[in-house]
Amino acid sequence: MINPRFDDLGESPFERLNRLIDGIKPGQPPIVMSLGEPQHPYPNWVGEVLDDHRGDYGAYPPLRGSEEFLRAVADWLTARYALPVDFITWTHHIVPLSGTREGLYFAPQIIVPRRKAGQQPAVLIPNPFYHAYAGAAVAVGAEPVYLAATRDNGFMPDLDKLDIALLNRTAAFYICSPANPQGTVADRAYLDRLIDLARRHDFVVLSDECYSEIFAVDPPPGILEAAAATGSLANVFVFNSLSKRSSVPGLRSGFVAGDPDLIARLRTLRSYGGALPSIPVMAAAAALWRDETHVVENRARYARKFDTAERIIGNRFGFYRPAGGFFLWLEVGDGESATSTLWREAGLKVLPGGYVARDVAGESNPGAPYIRLALVHDDATTEEALTRLSSVLPS
Ligand SMILES: Cc1ncc(COP(=O)(O)O)c(C=O)c1O
Repeated sequence: MINPRFDDLGESPFERLNRLIDGIKPGQPPIVMSLGEPQHPYPNWVGEVLDDHRGDYGAYPPLRGSEEFLRAVADWLTARYALPVDFITWTHHIVPLSGTREGLYFAPQIIVPRRKAGQQPAVLIPNPFYHAYAGAAVAVGAEPVYLAATRDNGFMPDLDKLDIALLNRTAAFYICSPANPQGTVADRAYLDRLIDLARRHDFVVLSDECYSEIFAVDPPPGILEAAAATGSLANVFVFNSLSKRSSVPGLRSGFVAGDPDLIARLRTLRSYGGALPSIPVMAAAAALWRDETHVVENRARYARKFDTAERIIGNRFGFYRPAGGFFLWLEVGDGESATSTLWREAGLKVLPGGYVARDVAGESNPGAPYIRLALVHDDATTEEALTRLSSVLPS
């Protein structure tokens, strides 16, 4: 017996990539830039905090998460987005996650009904997108509706182009700001408009902000500050994690915060099937959320690598410095063939842009002309990788 619901989901972008280059010998010692897995150092004291709590591996984590962790997140959100006191409380507004991915995947289960406006509900997803969104939509029997985010619309779905019939059957709308892969930041006006649409058409905004602390100049606005301006958290979830901010993707620690009624439901659902982070992990995470020094250093490392990229790539391949995130999104003509060439001739493993986007009937795959490179290595490796790319790819 097999559930056919997932048949069209297809392989993950990384499985597809492995298949694409399977059997091709890398022409130089491999450098993997396909994965958004930060390789920067993280504070040494993370290990010490984990060690101090080693006795706690013998206990299940409390269902709601540790008070220490929840308070650290509430304080961080309040300070970062200048929220009114107690707009986000540790008691009512936050659920700890083992990384944002599982929360992004779980959330639609408490939101999406069987029918909306008498039809199959829609989950709106920017195109290109982080693959968890599509899996989540399909898992709950919704129709994933992919909204082109291209150079023409500033790499953010155009909210003015959504027709009323679609909005009425929309149950959830994922946005990612700063966006993976393009690095675009949604401005406050965009977020305000999104919340307004969500409340008028009764859907939930699922705002993936896991790149919020990797920015070039100004801290990106967040969905919570837009919600605060309305005095309400209704219809709003924000997801964030330490994977990118603190370069600890292996710690598996994130959170979801927002609408207290939805948070209560999510907490209950997760008590059935979710995996809370362990007490030591929550202790280390609390300490990381309370420290900004390492985040400032982390940002400076990314800025240096974008300087390197700008110097080496210049104005080729539509290069631009993204407002946030750590990806290069390079327009190379045919992303798949450039990926094979870079592996064969330069040992560079990059991701074809088409693998993080969908073909939509009547439209071309908006990622197909691109490759995505994660600038997650040290300075020397990054310089080496970009120099190889520059000499191998025709401009
Ligand atoms: C856009 C986006 N969202 C969510 C995640 C998941 O991150 P984590 O589960 O480590 O918090 C990633 C990881 O690459 C991502 O790029």
